[in-house]
Amino acid sequence: MDSAGRLEAATPRVFWHASGVRAEQRQRQLRQQAATVWLTGLSGAGKSTLACALEQRLFREGRTAFILDGDNLRHHLNSDLGFTAHDRRENIRRSAEVARLMNDAGLIVICAFISPLRSDRDLAREIIGADNFIETYVSTPCAVCEERDPKGLYQKARAGLIPQFTGVSAPYEVPPAPALTLDTDALTLAQACEQLFRHLTPRFL
Ligand code: ADX
Repeated sequence: MDSAGRLEAATPRVFWHASGVRAEQRQRQLRQQAATVWLTGLSGAGKSTLACALEQRLFREGRTAFILDGDNLRHHLNSDLGFTAHDRRENIRRSAEVARLMNDAGLIVICAFISPLRSDRDLAREIIGADNFIETYVSTPCAVCEERDPKGLYQKARAGLIPQFTGVSAPYEVPPAPALTLDTDALTLAQACEQLFRHLTPRFL
C-alpha cells in the first residue's frame, strides 16, 4: 500500500515497498498539509506568472512549495510528447503522478498546465486525490491572451504554423466547478496571488 492508501498491483512481479515515515509525520515537520494547486487556462493567461508569485509568497511565509510547469516539464521528463490529444493526456497523467509524489513528500505543488480537456483534468484529480486537488481556472479571455502573445505563438498559430494550438485550432473546455476562478485581466497579479494564498492558509499547521 502506498502512503495515499492505494492498494495496487498494476504490474505482476513488482511489489510496493512502504516507507517508514508516515505522510502525517512529514506534514507536521513541514507545518503544512500537502496540496496541489492546479492552474488551468489558455497559453498566455498568466498561469506561470501566478505560479511564480504564489511560490515566492509561500516561501516567504516559511512554507515548502514547488512549481510543475508544462513548458518546463516538456524540456525533459515530457520531451517526447507533442500536442495531440493523446500526448496532452499523457503529459497530464505523468505530471499529476509527479505532483502526487511531491504531495506524499508533504509539499504544496503548484501546477501550471493548459490542460484543456475536462476529462484530463479529472484524471489529474483522480491521481492526486480530490481532497488535495485545488482546481484553479485562470480565466483570462482568449482575446487578451492573444493580445499579450508573450511567446509570439498566437501569431504563428494564426498563420497556420502551429497545428492544434489551444484557443485557435484546438479546444479549451472551461472547468464547470473550479475551486477558484482568477481572471488576470481583471485582477492584478498581487490580488490573484493573495486569493490563492488565502485559499491555502487553512492548510498551514
Ligand atoms: S497541455 O495542453 O499539454 O496542458 P502544456 O501546459 O504542457 O500544454 O504546454 C503549453 C505550452 O506549450 C504553451 O504555453 C506554449 O508555450 C507551448 N505550445 C506549443 N505548441 C502548443 C500548442 N499546439 N498548443 C498549446 N500550447 C503549445
